[in-house]
Amino acid sequence: MYAFAVDSADTAALHCDLLQAADAITAGEPDGIANMANVAALLWQYLPDLNWAGFYRMVDGELVLGPFQGKPACIRIPLGKGVCGTAAASGQSQRVADVHAFPGHIACDAASASELVVPVVRDGAVVAVIDLDSPSPARFALEDQEGVEAIAALIATRIG
Ligand code: SME
Repeated sequence: MYAFAVDSADTAALHCDLLQAADAITAGEPDGIANMANVAALLWQYLPDLNWAGFYRMVDGELVLGPFQGKPACIRIPLGKGVCGTAAASGQSQRVADVHAFPGHIACDAASASELVVPVVRDGAVVAVIDLDSPSPARFALEDQEGVEAIAALIATRIG
């Protein structure tokens, strides 16, 4: 069993502790699926107000569902499609306050209202994205984006 001291008093402290927890749980573990599964579980457990948290992996030029928490989701997303495909194609994080206003948004869970997608980049190439969905509009602040980007950078060489 893992027990992490994650301080949720404020967003900065929460992301600082989450990054340390993600480091501790993936350091020295060579299995990428295990590491993605544990990071998805960490994000799900400690970030409030989510209805989906997980990975899509770049496989043969398209995004394929990876380890996640939440409802079963769409399996394959073409590059450039939806919020995830846009993040993967551009290499830029997508922080979407209202998914219904995002052209081409793919509704895997009708409850989703806002979304944060952060690319995981290794050797200059997007190898995966981390996708977070919330039932609340404008759930994700810039601080959340920067926190998840730090986790993405940390695990880029640890997810296979
Ligand atoms: N909404 C995403 C699809 C993935 S699900 O949210 C899990 C998108 O538009 O790419």
